[in-house]
Amino acid sequence: MSIALAATGLRKSFTVHAQGGLTLPVLRDVGLSVETGECLALVGPSGAGKSTLLRSLYGNYRVQAGSIRVRHDDGWTELVDAEPRIVLDVRRRTMGFVSQFLRVIPRVATLDVVAEPMIRAGRSRSEADARAKSLLDRLRIPERLWALPPATFSGGEQQRVNIARSLGVDYPVLLLDEPTASLDAENRDAVVDLVRERRDAGAAIVAIFHDANMRDALATRVHRVALPGVHE
Ligand SMILES: Nc1ncnc2c1ncn2[C@@H]1O[C@H](COP(=O)(O)OP(=O)(O)OP(=O)(O)O)[C@@H](O)[C@H]1O
Ligand SMILES: [Mg+2]
Repeated sequence: MSIALAATGLRKSFTVHAQGGLTLPVLRDVGLSVETGECLALVGPSGAGKSTLLRSLYGNYRVQAGSIRVRHDDGWTELVDAEPRIVLDVRRRTMGFVSQFLRVIPRVATLDVVAEPMIRAGRSRSEADARAKSLLDRLRIPERLWALPPATFSGGEQQRVNIARSLGVDYPVLLLDEPTASLDAENRDAVVDLVRERRDAGAAIVAIFHDANMRDALATRVHRVALPGVHE
């Protein structure tokens, strides 16, 4: 095993303009590292900053201090204050993110929604289509829906399309924010199997799990996130 993602000294606060510029500290000197084949579960009370930490690792939030280094193209790439094109390149090939909700793209067929990141990462159309079909099938999206845009799908169907879209590329680093929050048990099991395969193939995973069963099934280690201002 070797380290795939390492963060140190992360600091993040939000400024709430509606409150006259009130500052909410969320991350204070947070650090973590994840090795290949590991699934690190972020655990802590609601509001502790788990999603903020994950989004900061992905570069969706800009941190005020610290370092986030990811193994990319056989070297280390620093993501804090990196140029946008570097962040985009890391996201295209090295680091995937499964959010809680699908950002629906109007008028694009489900199959294309799932195939698109694979094509962007360099796969051929036919390879991407084949993999997209296999993922949709494993995630139990009925074939009659594949040609339709997911806009009108149920919450659980959209979430499974979202997962299929994020698992098509074999990202070496995978970030998951409650990927199964709106799924029933059978669909959750399908997601557990897919994520476990990625982990066992050597992906480094950081995840927030909605449910303890899923965490027990996948996590190899736990990282506690404390409420801001509460010290252990
Ligand atoms: N964009 C934002 N602007 C202002 N405050 C925010 C923003 N995002 C998060 N926060 C605040 O940061 C704190 C941490 O939120 P975060 O979503 O990271 O918590 P969490 O640990 O993921 O909680 P949960 O388990 O409920 O999902 C909360 O107090 C939240 O209100
Ligand atoms: Mg959260």
